[in-house]
Amino acid sequence: MTGYALQLHEVAKDFGAARVVEDFSLDVADGELIVLVGPSGCGKSTLLRMIAGLEDVSEGAVVIAGQEMNHVPPGRRGIAMVFQNYALYPHMTVAQNMGFALRNERLPASEIERRVDEAADKLKIGQLLSRKPAQLSGGQRQRVAIGRAIVREPDVFLFDEPLSNLDAALRVQTRVEIAKLHADLGNTIIYVTHDQVEAMTLADRIVVMNAGRVEQIGTPEEIYTRPRSRFVAAFIGTPMMNFIDGRVADGRFTSGSGLAVALPPRLSAADGPAVLGIRPEHLRIAGSAAWEPALHGRLQVQEYLGERMLMHVALDHGPEVVATGAVALPQDETVRMTFDHEHLHLFDPQGRALGAVAGTGAC
Ligand SMILES: Nc1ncnc2c1ncn2[C@@H]1O[C@H](COP(=O)(O)OP(=O)(O)OP(=O)(O)O)[C@@H](O)[C@H]1O
Ligand SMILES: [Mg+2]
Repeated sequence: MTGYALQLHEVAKDFGAARVVEDFSLDVADGELIVLVGPSGCGKSTLLRMIAGLEDVSEGAVVIAGQEMNHVPPGRRGIAMVFQNYALYPHMTVAQNMGFALRNERLPASEIERRVDEAADKLKIGQLLSRKPAQLSGGQRQRVAIGRAIVREPDVFLFDEPLSNLDAALRVQTRVEIAKLHADLGNTIIYVTHDQVEAMTLADRIVVMNAGRVEQIGTPEEIYTRPRSRFVAAFIGTPMMNFIDGRVADGRFTSGSGLAVALPPRLSAADGPAVLGIRPEHLRIAGSAAWEPALHGRLQVQEYLGERMLMHVALDHGPEVVATGAVALPQDETVRMTFDHEHLHLFDPQGRALGAVAGTGAC
């Protein structure tokens, strides 16, 4: 054993002349939960399908539990996949749906029943086993689809946006169930989602993909606090990080508009054109207290979110930014904003993060 449940070595995928996955390498430890995120069309489903064996790899290797799988058929890879558009057999009961793959494997009926009961219990659908899919809610159906994967007792689970059909409340509930299940079973999981909260809360590590490539691999905290590129910084975090174009000289960032910010030591070695990044929660509307205001502008729109307010502010000589406020202010009010220098980000014109970015290389 390698200690790795799954390894991808420089995997690439071509559809005709189009390369949709490129030089993709990832080592997944036993029991790890990896979340794959990235814009639509960046290759997430294709990657899962290559791991499952539903697509061939054009280059590179898929290794499961130390064994190369490139030419091993899907059924013999020790993998179960939950598709986004899972289809349950409408004429079968929940129990029959869940046991279907096991019947195909010719497992004894008693073993099938044991596994189905156990999975149903974990997913809290034990009372639904004799119903047909049409008699279930969307969330219950989703859990049956997950149950169908669990009963196979795979080494690796692949989930392709498993919760995307659910309403917000059910998503949260099912997300927590998946987290518990993972804690309980300790299986290795590769999980694709568009939902950032799902990514941040479930992942041991997040893989951010961009146009078929790995953009960054790291723990949720690394990805959020030390994005390696402007792409990752913009992709993770809602509302999006604010970006201000300018240049760095002598440890100061200035934008054409007269904005001047002293950079913290970790960023002050930069020189030349650069983009300053500040997350909305780190940019706060300042009261009239006497600390040095770094940015000012005119309030355009404010959004009340209960525990805080998002303030859209047009900088006096710059772009519109989103800041956090505690109290409502009159429209068009001129506001001052302060920020903690520790939370500043800086990117070069190619979008690479400047300054110390530790522990975030492709693994
Ligand atoms: N069978 C196929 N033949 C040709 N091109 C394909 C095929 N399957 C996928 N593609 C292309 O490969 C690229 C990656 O698709 P993929 O489905 O992996 O994206 P994704 O990241 O899962 O997107 P989404 O978030 O929308 O589900 C897309 O440009 C898609 O059009
Ligand atoms: Mg997809």
